[in-house]
Amino acid sequence: MNLLITGGCGFIGSHFIEHLLRHHPDYKVVNLDAMTYAAHPQTKEFLQNLAPSRYSFVHGDIGSALVGEIIKTHDIDTIVNFAAESHVDRSILDPGSFVQTNVVGVQNLLYWARKLGNVRFVQVSTDEVYGSLEPSDASFTEHSHLVPSSPYSASKACADLLALSCFRTFRQEIVITRCSNNFGPRQFPEKLLPLVIANALEGKSIPVYGDGRQVRDWIFVADHCKAIDQVMHQGKLGEVYNISSNQEVPNLEIISKILQILDKPASLITFVKDRPAHDRRYALNSNKIRQQLGWVPATGFEEGLSRTIHWYIENSAWWKQLRDKAFFDYYTANYKAKFTPEAKL
Ligand code: NAD
Ligand code: DAU
Repeated sequence: MNLLITGGCGFIGSHFIEHLLRHHPDYKVVNLDAMTYAAHPQTKEFLQNLAPSRYSFVHGDIGSALVGEIIKTHDIDTIVNFAAESHVDRSILDPGSFVQTNVVGVQNLLYWARKLGNVRFVQVSTDEVYGSLEPSDASFTEHSHLVPSSPYSASKACADLLALSCFRTFRQEIVITRCSNNFGPRQFPEKLLPLVIANALEGKSIPVYGDGRQVRDWIFVADHCKAIDQVMHQGKLGEVYNISSNQEVPNLEIISKILQILDKPASLITFVKDRPAHDRRYALNSNKIRQQLGWVPATGFEEGLSRTIHWYIENSAWWKQLRDKAFFDYYTANYKAKFTPEAKL
């Protein structure tokens, strides 16, 4: 196969490229990434060294004509789209950039995939498109309504609908995955787990939004990548596949666990104003991919957490480089200042 992977210098995309190059020795991969704040230069180098003869990098935007050039030049037969603005908090401060990449960018990928010979298109989506659950609700299935709460999740839902419409209208080869919260090495330290680990290691306070009893359904990133691989090969066209390890944990519990493992005091926990429209609980039913494609996650929560913490301890230069950038401090300061219920979105 000749694959175009977009957003491959980000967290999950980089793990997926690593997975492809290690498990499919005959596949060729082109990585198109705009190298936004979320992409680490070291990740780019790391991937380049994995399999230089089967991997190439193109710096660019999924919303540009570069997509067509890459498909033609590299005879691409499959696109897997990880490129996105991915952080809910940022989408509250700047929804426009989310619509630009997550909606307009996806429309451009779909256009070129169609124009240049029905290239298979895998859209990597999220459980956030379903909205929020109450504690007693059953988990989301692929048939649950789409009730996104944030500009981020709305933009992802929009992309899903656009992709499905291209399957119906143009018979494009489309499959969609919707996964729960990922964790693992190389995640940008604006997201909860790496933020907690990094702050704890530096003895800094840990901001907990609202009462901290929100629940997320955690999956180790390698299990997500294996699932996408299976959907890409075996998934039924025009269908959606939920991906989850069924590991629901309240935020405060996960934070306390990390502090305990790192032998840091609970006094680092600082309750701050809640995220507007903060989804209370995510829980995803993944029976379909398990029963129809035989996917099973391999990494339990405790093991994944220990591997993740270990990686952040061993690679402090990696996350310090990101955190020391001026934009990150600017963003964090602005975010905390603007996050009031009255803030104009
Ligand atoms: P990330 O923010 O770590 O990485 C995103 C990557 O996309 C970065 O390398 C960035 O440079 C690139 N990018 C951004 N805009 C681009 C553009 N216009 N053109 C080309 N490249 C661009 O994100 P992530 O956490 O790895 O998430 C990857 C995908 O998986 C996203 O689509 C996200 O919605 C989805 N997802 C994430 C999670 C999660 O828990 N992180 C869970 C389910 C689904
Ligand atoms: O569910 C899948 C989604 O998971 C992905 O689609 C998104 O791309 C990804 O960012 C993630 O979204 P969340 O909003 O769930 O992740 P985040 O790490 O931002 O927050 C996780 C939980 O922790 C959430 O309840 C908010 C809370 N939180 C987060 C941060 C950054 C805090 O309490 N304090 C914080 O500082």
